[in-house]
Amino acid sequence: MKKFLKWLGFALAGCVGLGLILAVVVYAKSNARLAQSFAVQVRPVAIPRDAAALERGRHIAETRGCNECHGKDYAGNKVVDDAAMGRWHGPNLTRGKGGRVATFRDEDWVRAIRHGVGPEGKGLYLMPADEYTHLSDEDLGVLVAFMKSVPPVDRERVPLTFGPVARALLTAGKIKLPAEMVDHAHRQPVAVTPGPTPEYGRYLANACMGCHNAKLSGGKIDIGPPDWPPAANLTPHADGRLAKWSEPDFVAAMRTAKRPDGTELNPVMPRLFGQMSDLELKALWAYFRTLPATPTGAR
Ligand code: HEC
Ligand code: HEC
Repeated sequence: MKKFLKWLGFALAGCVGLGLILAVVVYAKSNARLAQSFAVQVRPVAIPRDAAALERGRHIAETRGCNECHGKDYAGNKVVDDAAMGRWHGPNLTRGKGGRVATFRDEDWVRAIRHGVGPEGKGLYLMPADEYTHLSDEDLGVLVAFMKSVPPVDRERVPLTFGPVARALLTAGKIKLPAEMVDHAHRQPVAVTPGPTPEYGRYLANACMGCHNAKLSGGKIDIGPPDWPPAANLTPHADGRLAKWSEPDFVAAMRTAKRPDGTELNPVMPRLFGQMSDLELKALWAYFRTLPATPTGAR
């Protein structure tokens, strides 16, 4: 019996020891991923100043989700706060106290939004540059112009912290820095012509691909937590609903978050896209019609 207890003791000590080693490895590996630097070549973009440009910039900011993470007043907002994942707040993007954009040059804005990289070259966490990197020079220019015009608000930056689950996911490469996913050499178009065309819809649909995937066939959302529902199939495949929808059905669903049969869309489907203009929604619809019918979840 004594011998057995002794061995049990050894075994337990071994487990605790292994656990500790594992924790240290995960901690070190996740820190390494978070601390990555990216030496990116920032191509200058013209930043206009006229009122029409600012208005277009505001529309882009409001329909691409900047408010969700940086707050309605752009002075910072809570995104995630839980023991498993950590505390993630979008920082203050106004020139008020607690923000760091007061000292930003235009190229620092471009580096952050297009490349997901901070002024000192560090990869920004959670900041979805992989979605914004597709913006044309003109659209990025008006967005930066608008961001620079936002009234200053004082709000301290909440430092990012990382819980054990987030660290395990970072170590396993399931969570990446957006800067790791951006093609930093991609040459964006100078301008994209707005119109109710599949080409313009394709450009706008970059905002949908993070959840609906690059083929827009829906299914499991890679970037989401496990409790998120699957995204819908947006191709005209018999698996999905859009094959039977008309353009007005689609526009109404985007505006009201209700399907033609009256059922409500899960809140994971962002409501902010409902603020897109008629032209933008028509362009998206025109593009979805040209997609090959793809079974749900096929990549
Ligand atoms: C999913 C949440 C999220 C969305 C959406 C988002 N951001 Fe961010 N953004 C962040 C976080 C978090 C940081 C800070 C990351 C860090 O410190 O590593 C950040 C950093 C930045 C920075 C660098 C400023 C600084 O002080 O670090 C800029 C500029 C910025 N975001 C602009 C934007 C704009 C413009 C949009 C909309 C087009 C946007 N962000 C949308 C989460 C988000
Ligand atoms: C953050 C993730 C996310 C993003 C980004 C996103 N969607 Fe969705 N979308 C979803 C989810 C999840 C559903 C399924 C909702 C449900 O089952 O109730 C959905 C459902 C839909 C539906 C309903 C279709 C149906 O069959 O019921 C449409 C239409 C739609 N999305 C269009 C879009 C468009 C257009 C964009 C880009 C402009 C977009 N979504 C971006 C997550 C997202």
